[in-house]
Amino acid sequence: MKKTVGTLFSALLFFSLYAQPSEDLPGDFLGQSFHKERRQALREKLPPNSVAVFFANPIRNRSNDVDFVYHQDPNFYYLTGYKEPDAVLLIFKDKQTANNGNQYDEIIFVQPRNAQAEMWTGRRLGNLGVKETLGLNEAFNNTDFKKYNVDFSKFQAVLFTDFNNDVRDNPLDSADLYSLIEQFKQKVNYPSVGTINVSREARINNLNTRELAVIMGTLRGKKQPEELALIRKAVAISGMAQREVMKAIKPGMSEREIQGIHEYVFKKYEAEDVGYPSIVGAGHNGCILHYIENYKPNVRNTELILMDLGAEYHGYTADVTRTIPVSGKFSPEQKMIYELVLKAQEEAMKACKPGVTTQELSAITRRIVNKGLAELGIIKSENEQHLYYPHGCCHHIGLDVHDPVPQGRLEENMVITVEPGIYIPENAKCDKRWWGIAVRIEDDCLITKEGYELLSSSAPRTIDEIEALMKEPSPLDDFELPEIK
Ligand code: GLY
Ligand code: MN
Ligand code: MN
Repeated sequence: MKKTVGTLFSALLFFSLYAQPSEDLPGDFLGQSFHKERRQALREKLPPNSVAVFFANPIRNRSNDVDFVYHQDPNFYYLTGYKEPDAVLLIFKDKQTANNGNQYDEIIFVQPRNAQAEMWTGRRLGNLGVKETLGLNEAFNNTDFKKYNVDFSKFQAVLFTDFNNDVRDNPLDSADLYSLIEQFKQKVNYPSVGTINVSREARINNLNTRELAVIMGTLRGKKQPEELALIRKAVAISGMAQREVMKAIKPGMSEREIQGIHEYVFKKYEAEDVGYPSIVGAGHNGCILHYIENYKPNVRNTELILMDLGAEYHGYTADVTRTIPVSGKFSPEQKMIYELVLKAQEEAMKACKPGVTTQELSAITRRIVNKGLAELGIIKSENEQHLYYPHGCCHHIGLDVHDPVPQGRLEENMVITVEPGIYIPENAKCDKRWWGIAVRIEDDCLITKEGYELLSSSAPRTIDEIEALMKEPSPLDDFELPEIK
């Protein structure tokens, strides 16, 4: 549908059409008190006499006049709950005084309401909606940012994340993200050549582009109860999808269809999106760690299929991988590799508790994998350098699938993946009976006071559990569609 209609909108239409009835929305979004409390937690971590500045994510163009579905910058979302583009947020360490004498320690500039734009591309909160819905009391239209006259030179530190110069200018909008960044640069005397990040300290005068990421990583690393509820849901949905696929998969299905079954289950449980492009790789495709083409038209019953998918539920993503035999039964070689990966994963999980590091967990899995590969004759000795396990075994999850890395060791209420893998491509320097076997097993673990809780336990992991579930009927067994020539 092309934009062909001009401005036809009366104020009456504007207000009646665009008010969002609350019954049309899920009732379990993060509430304004969560975001408010997180802003206060950030304020407490800011250095003396400083301000932190956040920009909304850019709109990304897909093709011609179609953009990618908008996704907010996770830091921006964490601190505000705001899901729209073209916005700036400032969080001050100390109270500021406005011209009218009002005191404030946070201020947001957001895209204004616009009847015509909203009819085409969706509702906007506008500054009044932001005050009411998100509880940010100092909320203005982004067109006011240019004349906002805080003297940034008075702060000991202005913290922000440096710009990547990859934001499109909409010349018709003087308050789009491009313009907001330009206006900010002028206000803070940002150097006219290059970026601050290239300086060793990521700091010029009072501008600091390094510290904010560290502070946000620390804040986001330890999940709040409200976040844990959403992560649990995202993970449970992803586990349920793995279960349904285990029952439904048949030789001859395409990788795309299998992806579709996962993603249908995600949507059935109202997950808005996937947290990252879905990875569904049969046979040697599983050796490509982030294989997202999913083009193979017929998966074969001699193959394993590696399925790494995560539902994103209200911004929070799961990251769960299961590797299963298309036929429903592991071959002896597949079984040996699978058991080795599972053992590595279980040993790492046993060590999951406050005080360890993800590097230590990775090292546990690597030792087991190397020893096992040597025993199977796939490598000559456990000290041989090889590429059969080319990645680490853990990362944090949350609003990002690879959430920012908090400083230090694991703590209670952090959520990490444990995901060892072995990938043996065609023509690898080992007996060819191992070729095309790729196994990753990935689970999501909540670090608890004493150890961990396995959040993804609903998705079967052992060979016996997987083979038993794959024998069960699926509601999709009778779902046939006519062939399209
Ligand atoms: N799904 C990406 C990863 O496992 O890190
Ligand atoms: Mn992962
Ligand atoms: Mn993954």
